[in-house]
Amino acid sequence: MRVRRSAAGGNTSAHTSLPNPLSSFIGRELELAQLEALLRNVRLLTLTGSGGIGKTRLALQVASHAPHDSTQAVRFVDLAPVTDAVGVCEAVAAALHVQEEPDQPLMDTLEQALRPMRLLLLLDNCEHVALACAELASQILRSCPEVTMLATSREPLRIPGETVWRVPSLSAPDENGPANLAAVERSESARLFMDRALAVMPDFALDHSNAQHVAEICRRLDGIPLALELAAARMGMPSLEEVAERLNCALHVLMAGARTAPKRQHTLRSTIDWSYALLSESERALFDRLAVFRGDWGLSAVEAVCAGDGIQQTAVLDLLGGLVAKSLVTIQPVAVGAQRYRLLEVLRQYAAERLERRAEAGQVGKRCVIRAKTDGRFGGSRTRKTADVVQPKRAKTYSDFGRMAYRRFG
Ligand SMILES: Nc1ncnc2c1ncn2[C@@H]1O[C@H](COP(=O)(O)OP(=O)(O)O)[C@@H](O)[C@H]1O
Ligand SMILES: [Mg+2]
Repeated sequence: MRVRRSAAGGNTSAHTSLPNPLSSFIGRELELAQLEALLRNVRLLTLTGSGGIGKTRLALQVASHAPHDSTQAVRFVDLAPVTDAVGVCEAVAAALHVQEEPDQPLMDTLEQALRPMRLLLLLDNCEHVALACAELASQILRSCPEVTMLATSREPLRIPGETVWRVPSLSAPDENGPANLAAVERSESARLFMDRALAVMPDFALDHSNAQHVAEICRRLDGIPLALELAAARMGMPSLEEVAERLNCALHVLMAGARTAPKRQHTLRSTIDWSYALLSESERALFDRLAVFRGDWGLSAVEAVCAGDGIQQTAVLDLLGGLVAKSLVTIQPVAVGAQRYRLLEVLRQYAAERLERRAEAGQVGKRCVIRAKTDGRFGGSRTRKTADVVQPKRAKTYSDFGRMAYRRFG
């Protein structure tokens, strides 16, 4: 087994490899204290909850404050781009700089590397590979006594030794009576909303005249961080009152449809619908096409794959900037090199649904496959190269190549 030493990847110390979000973290003081205490006693802690509720962000915050001493390393594994069990092992191995041995299953090599380690392993976005994560976590629990895992997943991994912790909404201003300015200021939802709104309108201030509207927006959005960010990004509109009113109307209409899913899921879905409806036609087209990327990606990949069929290559940068400004695309912090972007998984799935219905989906797919082949960046096992090479004739539709595993691509 070889463990490669690398200077890259860490952002706080040689022992940690946590991505450093560009926006500020709000609230969750009680939750952080609880989770930090739990992490001292349990070996597998899974943060669950619907998309956009803040699992990843909370896990990153916990991990960056975890009770690790200088001998405990922290490693972050993004499983969003992974599609199968082999990919899970590969992603963990890559995070630990463990290299595959020629005649040994990668899991065995990983286990040997992990056994002597004092480590906090953050497994982010487990839901779509839950079974593989469950198997990996079980093996680590059995054989690596000093490794603790913090997972995020919409569903628990359901294995012995797992402690499941449901991530709650951010606190919202109380519903009774007129909004009290101090109470609005204190609530986590309003703090997040204000923080993100200030990025769009730097002179915006919470006062007696607008506290009611902020409180209403926060309550309407059920304290879901992603929904609050999407609404705050729309503060360029004439007035806060208008945002509150339009949002209220839009959500009322949008949510009147299906009522089977849990309310928070409905609220987020409707907020994304609302935000999407306010995009220009070109922004919508680009947003939908971005669903073909998994993990994070660069501008040149977007230009190569998403331009065409009504979008000029020269317009891509501006359109992408518009989507970032509206919180639909996230800038991925990188230590060095060109800017990279990503879609939060819940937004990528939304975009994918839309892209499937677009006439140009096949063309986008074709360009994606061509680009991926020149880049040699199809995901999947290094040991199954031939199976992972996409045959262009198979990639006629989005759904065909959508099933392909993409790694960092761009
Ligand atoms: N406590 C928080 N403070 C600031 N931003 C937050 C907080 N919780 C979530 N967010 C932001 O809300 C969005 C959705 O959160 P995320 O952690 O990605 O959700 P999930 O992992 O549950 O899908 C992200 O942009 C994230 O940065
Ligand atoms: Mg997440």
